[in-house]
Amino acid sequence: MARTQASFVCQNCGAVYAKWSGKCEACGGWNTIVEEGPAPPLGSNATKRVKGRKFALEDLKTEDKAPPRRSTGIAEFDRVCGGGLVPGSALLIGGDPGIGKSTLILQALASYAKVATKSGRHAVYISGEEAMAQVRLRASRMDLSDAPVSLGSATCVEDILSTLESGPTPGVVAIDSIQTIWTSALEAAPGTIAQVRTASFDLVRYAKASGAALLLVGHVTKDGQIAGPKAVEHLVDAVLYFEGERGHHFRVLRAVKNRFGPTDEIGVFEMTGRGLAEVANPSALFLGDRSGAAPGAAVFAGLEGTRPLLVEIQALVAAPGYGTPRRAVVGWDTGRLAMILAVLDARAGLGISSHDVYLNVAGGLKVSEPAADLAAAAALISSFTGRALPKDCVLFGEFSLSGDVRPAPQAELRLKEAAKLGFSTAIVPQGTKMIGDGLQLREIKDVQELVSFASSGAAQTQGRVVRPSVVKSNHE
Ligand code: TYD
Ligand code: MG
Repeated sequence: MARTQASFVCQNCGAVYAKWSGKCEACGGWNTIVEEGPAPPLGSNATKRVKGRKFALEDLKTEDKAPPRRSTGIAEFDRVCGGGLVPGSALLIGGDPGIGKSTLILQALASYAKVATKSGRHAVYISGEEAMAQVRLRASRMDLSDAPVSLGSATCVEDILSTLESGPTPGVVAIDSIQTIWTSALEAAPGTIAQVRTASFDLVRYAKASGAALLLVGHVTKDGQIAGPKAVEHLVDAVLYFEGERGHHFRVLRAVKNRFGPTDEIGVFEMTGRGLAEVANPSALFLGDRSGAAPGAAVFAGLEGTRPLLVEIQALVAAPGYGTPRRAVVGWDTGRLAMILAVLDARAGLGISSHDVYLNVAGGLKVSEPAADLAAAAALISSFTGRALPKDCVLFGEFSLSGDVRPAPQAELRLKEAAKLGFSTAIVPQGTKMIGDGLQLREIKDVQELVSFASSGAAQTQGRVVRPSVVKSNHE
């Protein structure tokens, strides 16, 4: 007979062990292994499996129309969802603790409920984390006390489902957060993967059966994964991340999975004293305070989903201290910075790698586009040489390891946004065409051309002169 002993499961990666240990061998996480109830032995039922019911298979053609959307009335939120919430769908909103998930959800529900009550639908907010009084306090702080949202405080999924099923089906249900929800069907402690997975599954099944749109809130662990809910991502129809830097007021809602819409859209919000405010023109916000041209700053004409976004990239190259040079990056990929530094050294002989390098994306935005290479490199060269780039100039383009500048998609959108915000020059990859007028283009072929531009361009401060023609070999 198969042994039915308890298993030990890593809460980080899901690896299963026969006995407890302090470190997970699979993902290297410490203290992530937790005892869970005995797993049913795989295949043990194979011989006694009952005969199943036959079901009809159908073709792909459909008479059904595109799913109707339930607008929350918050345009930034709706756009990230792909145009509003889809009835019967489940959406997971992940983010660091304290980033503003509960605030966002409460605002979305309140604004949905204000409109939906006219058509007989209502919104339900179940808080497993905060007491009713705390939620009410937040609502009054945001001036939402009068919104017709039904509020509940519960953590047991059976209680939640009985409550929801006893009344008319709500238009939208929010559960804050799934880490606190547990089911009495399992013996595992609340918050374990098994509990979170089972409880979420029950909630998602309820949403599908009833047609209510389900919003699940999930906390993200230190290494950026939605804790436990990682196991839930495949259950839900859409996964949104709510992110932002602590100390900044700006918050970005980003879709990472969406069965009903695009995954590269972002919504931009600002955290104010009275909740989150939508930011209609994010470019102005991420440009920082650009009162004067300073060495080390470059404006990247980026793209987030369908939306162009100008953001300032700031670099500081300092004389090396003792030992290994320091690298600190905020809002950009460390590996990408290492690559740019290597390309600058190997292809343009800049000798920057031995210096301490700091790189920052203004406004707390995270830039992941490879097209930011050119702007980052220009900021680095500008700081290294002490010469400011022209103030009214934007850049975009991707580096290849050979030092060539490669074209970036949607150049026209980026250029239009730059022209709209009053920029007059754009440093672009070769072959970029300008449609319309207003912006002067300067095509850059490779990293050496960029170095000569950035270190000679609009020199405003005295600094080092770099000769890009001196190309060092890596093997010297
Ligand atoms: P919260 O929504 O509780 O975060 P989460 O649910 O993601 O843990 O937001 C918490 C932070 O937001 C808190 O530090 C205070 C701040 N905040 C404001 O600045 N203004 C407001 O109007 C509200 C409601 C919160
Ligand atoms: Mg919260």
